[in-house]
Amino acid sequence: MSKKIIKSAYDLLEDSIIYFEGKPVGTMAAMDPSFPAAENYSECFIRDFVPCALVFLADGKTDIVRNFLETVLSLRTSERTISGHEIQPGVMPASFTVLKDKNGKEQLKADFGERAIGRVAPVDSMMWWMILLYVYVQVTGDKAFAHQPSFQYALQQILHLCLKDTFEVSPALLVPDASSMIDRRMGIYGYPLEIQSLFYGTLRIMDYLLLEPTVVDRRSTDKRRASDNKTALTETAEVRQEALKNYVREYYWLDLKRLNEIHRFKTEEFGESSTNVLNIYPESIPDWLPNWLPTDSGYMVGNVGVGRMDFRFFSLGNLLSIIFNLASHKQSEQIMKLFERRWPDLVGDMPIKIIFPAMEGKEWQIRTGSDPKNMAWSYQNGGNWPTLLWPFVAAALKTGRGDLAERAFEISMNRLPGDKWPEYYDGRAGRLVGRRANINQTWSAAALILSEKLLDNPSLLNLLPE
Ligand code: GLC
Repeated sequence: MSKKIIKSAYDLLEDSIIYFEGKPVGTMAAMDPSFPAAENYSECFIRDFVPCALVFLADGKTDIVRNFLETVLSLRTSERTISGHEIQPGVMPASFTVLKDKNGKEQLKADFGERAIGRVAPVDSMMWWMILLYVYVQVTGDKAFAHQPSFQYALQQILHLCLKDTFEVSPALLVPDASSMIDRRMGIYGYPLEIQSLFYGTLRIMDYLLLEPTVVDRRSTDKRRASDNKTALTETAEVRQEALKNYVREYYWLDLKRLNEIHRFKTEEFGESSTNVLNIYPESIPDWLPNWLPTDSGYMVGNVGVGRMDFRFFSLGNLLSIIFNLASHKQSEQIMKLFERRWPDLVGDMPIKIIFPAMEGKEWQIRTGSDPKNMAWSYQNGGNWPTLLWPFVAAALKTGRGDLAERAFEISMNRLPGDKWPEYYDGRAGRLVGRRANINQTWSAAALILSEKLLDNPSLLNLLPE
């Protein structure tokens, strides 16, 4: 039975492959002929390709991943200038597609956010691209691939972009709303956890990927010696990595002890010795939280900033913080414990809940702009997403909770193929297929295959940045 299910997941994955000039370069986000929720689901999204790529790499099909990495890199240079500002050179597109011109000649067309619903620029794409490059090099041993001048230049641009001085004091990365997996307005502008986890993941692997001591000039492909340049960049990155880790472990972490501290926080403190440095008001602790937070577990909150702690639980950010070691060992164990203790809320009938809890009423109106697709307990506002199974399985295995990984995997196996691989599920427990979900969503199928592979061979985890 399970073989048949995995085979049907593979069929979907294979059918979704996009070709450019005869070469496989990526996968379509969904293959739903009757009800595509949006036109761009036929495109290859960078983040959606990640679980697919990991499956391909684990199966020794390295070509498609190599082509993908090169294709996305080539698209980077097609960045546009829009209404008076330049899209930063390190930015990579959210998605791309292959079009045919009137002579039948194929062309790549990227979306840097200028076509996407809501015009959002993806910040996570460049980070996922870099992480995928790292895994590709790990699997193939082909370091020379990453050492090509064009790759080195892109890596440096990404780092420059993330490390450059802004108006910020915090080591966390400041981004607009909707710039990662949650790509609609959901009140996650600022310092969302998912971006901090990905940022940390990229900082961890930068040294491995960057070639010492050559830097590549933008206008020519000549290499020139610039060891000072590279050293300055890596030094800044190392300091930032450490600062980010300490900052997230201290200010994002929430357990009962910390909640008690926040509850009794002094406010309006001035000076270097203040304890409530971000001036969080205890009145901002939401009603649902004190009774919901178990005594023996904890999690990273969704976002922090001045006078702001977003207490919602975001699964992907938490799981990636475990996978990339942004969370400490103890914190990682406690996050997995939270999944166990609050299983009906965070896993329920379909792994895994994207955010808990959902926003309702006025809060939904104000923070989403009354987005009907993101009604409470639907889609990105508290829906359950099958693709989140793979980071859950990875994080569970990493913390020695193979039992939780198995349990979630079984639930997915029992439902996903029968429901035809939906994109997301609705309802508090995720019992309903999402109201406007595509069926045949590629990363839902890829996540199941990848999870099975991780369960069979946990050493695959070593390929990810840690
Ligand atoms: C939705 C998701 C986004 C995903 C895209 C394609 O917009 O929020 O994360 O990349 O669909 O599947």
